[in-house]
Amino acid sequence: MARILLAEDDDNLRLLTKTILELAGHEVHAYPNGLRALDAFEDVAPNLIVSDINMPMLNGFGLLEGVRQKLSGAVVPFLFLTGRSEYEDIRQARRLGADDFLTKPFEPEDLVAAVQTRLDRHNTIELFNTHSAHLQTITMLANVIEARDAYTRGHVQRVQQYAIELGQQLGWTLEAMAILEYGALLHDIGKISVPEHVLNKTSRLTLEEMEIIKQHPAAGAKILEGIPHLHQALPYVLYHHEKWDGTGYPEGLTGENIPLEGRLLAVVDVYDALTSARPYRQGMPWPDALDFIEKEGGVHFDPRMAEVFVELQRAKQ
Ligand SMILES: [Fe+2]
Repeated sequence: MARILLAEDDDNLRLLTKTILELAGHEVHAYPNGLRALDAFEDVAPNLIVSDINMPMLNGFGLLEGVRQKLSGAVVPFLFLTGRSEYEDIRQARRLGADDFLTKPFEPEDLVAAVQTRLDRHNTIELFNTHSAHLQTITMLANVIEARDAYTRGHVQRVQQYAIELGQQLGWTLEAMAILEYGALLHDIGKISVPEHVLNKTSRLTLEEMEIIKQHPAAGAKILEGIPHLHQALPYVLYHHEKWDGTGYPEGLTGENIPLEGRLLAVVDVYDALTSARPYRQGMPWPDALDFIEKEGGVHFDPRMAEVFVELQRAKQ
């Protein structure tokens, strides 16, 4: 069901068009000219506009132009109903940002289908834009956090990539994968609370400094608490340092008591840490790192996840 703004000066055609669209389940607000339709635009807040071209007061092009000048009208799908389909009209309408034409006379099902296609495409684009904007913001945040840590350049994005590969191989659902995509980026968000001199220390950490670092999962969880739409990333943030044998932190959970998200991230996080070079040491060669992950299955890691990850990475090389 969509809210449709309709402008058509022919009384019969306006009533007919309105009825067809209402029968298709839409809410239709109909006006006899472009000016009345434009006046009503903000009150109606339509999801789509259907308009005739030739109308008194303000024609269809004027309506389209007027709508496009409004902030909330910049992307509303616009469908012209026209008896004329001359090249010049189409060109002008395209230039103004019309989405489509329907030439009169039209079959009711053609109108309903044209409207539905515009609405579907618009929803898809909207969903895609929101999702990308969301991920871009999170990526920026993750990069800011990472920039404080001189040794982990590119770590967050590599961890995300490994996590996606492992999640797919484990057959996780699309919804779980969508959360994984940003959960993996955010997993170390709590490091913002660790002082830079501790993060970047090359000599051995004191016990006290170790304790500060161990706070980062809980600190991250606290940050996410205030952001409801990121709550689902919480298991990644809070449990990625738990170990299968119960010797991890912050809660010392064991085996399957550790949420799946934390278990998955532990594998890929350690693998990337091992294989990345640091200023004071070289990265471990990947075959050795995979041997390590394999050996730690059932000790540090979920044994099945460790096995699947090792197999996947070996097959890739
Ligand atoms: Fe971490």
